[in-house]
Amino acid sequence: MIDWDSLIKAARRARELAYSEYSGFSVGAAAVTSDGRIFTGCNIENSSFGLAICAERTAVFKAVSEGYREIAGLVILTDNTPPSRPCGACRQVLFEFNPSMEILCVNLDGRRDMFRLGDLYPEPFTID
Ligand code: THU
Repeated sequence: MIDWDSLIKAARRARELAYSEYSGFSVGAAAVTSDGRIFTGCNIENSSFGLAICAERTAVFKAVSEGYREIAGLVILTDNTPPSRPCGACRQVLFEFNPSMEILCVNLDGRRDMFRLGDLYPEPFTID
């Protein structure tokens, strides 16, 4: 069972570290691996706007680069309503590391919207 409350707390702390100087839109993410490790991420922007990286991908890339490739669940925390869903590029990346990942989109008011990645992204790119 995924401890969603702990993941939300981790995503909240991660969001405070967002480098969102250009959009002003801060995003926090927390990914939990199949063996219970938590990796957090925030969005990181750049004066060359197209180089921004999303919070979800920061979290997943941190996990994978530390040797954890199976992500069971992910929280994305934003300050809007409804809470933001993962962007298309992130959906493709998330799919790589668990097509049936559980994704919880949360906002600062406590709204929680739960999804299965397969529902958000039913037809991924594959090379099979
Ligand atoms: N962003 C994310 O962190 N995750 C998404 O899924 C979409 C967008 C960030 C990128 C940019 O820093 C800011 O939100 C505004 O687009």
